[in-house]
Amino acid sequence: MPGLLEKKYQELVTLGRIDYDPAQLVALQQLQKLQDQLLAHAECKQKLMLRKWRLPPMCRSLYIFGEVGRGKSMLMDLFYQTCPIKQKRRVHFHAFMLEIHNFVHQWHQQHDSDAISALAQHIILTQQLLCLDEFHVTDIADAMLIVRLFGKLIDLGLTVVTTSNYHPNELYRGGLQRELFLPFIKLLQENTDTIYLSGDKDYRCGQQSAVNTRFYFPLNEHASEFAQQHCKQLTNYAPMHAVRLHVLGRQLVLSAAFAKIAMTSFHELCVQPLGSSDYLTIASHFETIILTDIPRLNSDLRNETKRFITLIDALYEYKVRLICTAAVPLNELCVADDVIDFARTHSRLVEMQSARYL
Ligand SMILES: Nc1ncnc2c1ncn2[C@@H]1O[C@H](COP(=O)(O)OP(=O)(O)O)[C@@H](O)[C@H]1O
Ligand SMILES: [Mg+2]
Repeated sequence: MPGLLEKKYQELVTLGRIDYDPAQLVALQQLQKLQDQLLAHAECKQKLMLRKWRLPPMCRSLYIFGEVGRGKSMLMDLFYQTCPIKQKRRVHFHAFMLEIHNFVHQWHQQHDSDAISALAQHIILTQQLLCLDEFHVTDIADAMLIVRLFGKLIDLGLTVVTTSNYHPNELYRGGLQRELFLPFIKLLQENTDTIYLSGDKDYRCGQQSAVNTRFYFPLNEHASEFAQQHCKQLTNYAPMHAVRLHVLGRQLVLSAAFAKIAMTSFHELCVQPLGSSDYLTIASHFETIILTDIPRLNSDLRNETKRFITLIDALYEYKVRLICTAAVPLNELCVADDVIDFARTHSRLVEMQSARYL
């Protein structure tokens, strides 16, 4: 009987969303095994807690490494999504390190005791599983925090699933005082199973030339997954935040952005009463815009359609990369109307999907 993760993978293959990849299978099976163990562990823990017995042994952590674009993050994501335990967290390694530095800083302002022990206790109370994407160590301050924190977390029984482009032995290679980091590598070797994702296909390269993957329809459950997938890949899983842009002495707030990437919706940009200057500001500010939930445009949505046309003109002008989810295919996006001229917009949208435009 395939497990939840294996089923999900199979489902995506069947839907044509991903290719069946034998190189991913080894990692998939191992992740599935861990998922089953975590669930059994969580159930057992709950029963035992009621009777105050000893806790069952912890589940071994996993460290997945390999070249870029092999599907490490995708597999970890699927694993995380389908993992049926409550106390889980998935976070990008950089965001996690930032949190640790902040925690340590704040702790020391109020306490004399050891910040790392306190943090480890805090984590273990709220998490049974921690998924860390893109593990990578470049500076001594991080290296020292990692050595101490992960030693404690593993001791306390946290299960960590990590992706990285580096074999454990290659971590922090050439780094300052690397000998102080070596205990962490030993810890990894003793307490985690290492999986090498050995596929020879870089899926990311393949995607760069794909022209059909930037306009998704219809607006079903996979549409938001599509937008999220693009978003994660572009931002490298960094969290998005609201941004304020200045437009002619006013402020324009977009709900989700990171660096030069914005994740927005038809509602946010075209239902709100925005105008040309807003769109030009947005277009000059961002390199990529993920625009979700575009409805079929018709005379009932006259103002919204006009705004959409102005928006596309601005994005085209500034060569912004556009990724969309819509209710209908591109050639059915706007119902012909003698007031609204959609031909230019249609042609621009087509061109914006092309490899040449990008
Ligand atoms: N088997 C597959 N078939 C199609 N696309 C895939 C497959 N595995 C991964 N991808 C896609 O390739 C891209 C890169 O994958 P990702 O997991 O980010 O790679 P890595 O973390 O190893 O660098 C992602 O968009 C992902 O969805
Ligand atoms: Mg990755």
